[in-house]
Amino acid sequence: MNERTKNIKNNTNQLILENLQVVSLTYGTVILNKEKFIEALSEVSTLNGLNSIKNRIFVLKEIITNHKKDQEGILNIDPNGDTISLRKDVLISELNQILESQTIERAKYYVNRLKESIQKVKTSKVNDINLLRWKEYGEVITDSLWILDKRDTSGAHLGWYWGNFIPQIPHQMMLRYTKKGEWVLDTFVGSGTTLIECRRLGRNGIGIELNPEVAQKAKELIEKEQNKDNVISEVVVGDSRVIDIKQILNRYNIDKVQLLIMHPPYHDIIKFSRDERDLSNAKNTEEFLKMFGAFVDNATPYLEKGRYFTLVIGDKYSKGEWIPLGFYCMQEVLKRGYLLKSIIVKNFEETRGKRNQKELWRYRALVGGFYIFKHEYVMLFKKRER
Ligand SMILES: C[S@@+](CC[C@H](N)C(=O)[O-])C[C@H]1O[C@@H](n2cnc3c(N)ncnc32)[C@H](O)[C@@H]1O
Repeated sequence: MNERTKNIKNNTNQLILENLQVVSLTYGTVILNKEKFIEALSEVSTLNGLNSIKNRIFVLKEIITNHKKDQEGILNIDPNGDTISLRKDVLISELNQILESQTIERAKYYVNRLKESIQKVKTSKVNDINLLRWKEYGEVITDSLWILDKRDTSGAHLGWYWGNFIPQIPHQMMLRYTKKGEWVLDTFVGSGTTLIECRRLGRNGIGIELNPEVAQKAKELIEKEQNKDNVISEVVVGDSRVIDIKQILNRYNIDKVQLLIMHPPYHDIIKFSRDERDLSNAKNTEEFLKMFGAFVDNATPYLEKGRYFTLVIGDKYSKGEWIPLGFYCMQEVLKRGYLLKSIIVKNFEETRGKRNQKELWRYRALVGGFYIFKHEYVMLFKKRER
């Protein structure tokens, strides 16, 4: 390996073969010259024998799997050319599918499908997921039970705020329900988790927070997160029930957002402040729900029709009785005409206090005949088209 290649390898974490001859690989990703790869597949699809197709595909697979020298230059990286980055395991399984075909028609069908998935992009109205390469989106969760055992604490996500949510929640919601460059509104932004994630994914984010000190700290942390897509991240201090959202959006010449996220206090489980406008200070469940409804009413006009509203909420116990805050809040949202799209059950991280007292809580649960909370809800609603 010459010095130049060594440097590239060290600097970019890419495995680039000597003289950049074949393919370059980042972790599990192959970067190919798009035009050449399409040309190679087009050529394969004109062949008349199943064996000839398989032989060509075998060569392609060898080059990709073993970084073999690309004698014919099929996949050569052209520094000026258009490249495509594909997940290596998905691509290999697509090539295997062709190799395992029993008929020429099947083989050609798979070759053309692969070619089309590289030439074209097919996305829905609400996200950037390329449906022609859907297998590449392994990180996008589609099940309604989320067991997330590790909080993402990378970058500006410090997890310092008691009562924050894990970054994977806004991350998942934005991947599925927004496109790059769209707008996200979080009316209980707390420590800014949503806005940090917005920066990572190239979405503009507006957060509202009642507590000025918390808002200030959130702003500082958000600023620490890289902003490679140059998105807007604004934290506004105020009461989300009455704040003039229209005026905030006007500053950016927009009148709607494409995703609404709410992570309200789970009533009084954590008292966030002494401010009586703070939802965690609602006197009882009825008042909590009435206040909660006001948050939904104030934000709803600014969510684009056909777009999504995510509510993250947990239940609570009060005097030995399970209070299903999640379902009560869901009811409040449904009363306002939203469509229920999903109730995701997510495991609940143990709070620092409880972690050390696991045994004691288990004993208490056995004595008191109750269950220890281990889940919360990520409820998903859609604003109707009309
Ligand atoms: C559960 S926390 C949200 C945490 C946030 N998801 C995070 O990751 O940091 C709820 C937040 O709502 C705020 N809050 C309570 N009442 C509010 C109100 N009337 N308007 C705006 N924010 C409010 C609290 O100060 C608290 O920071």
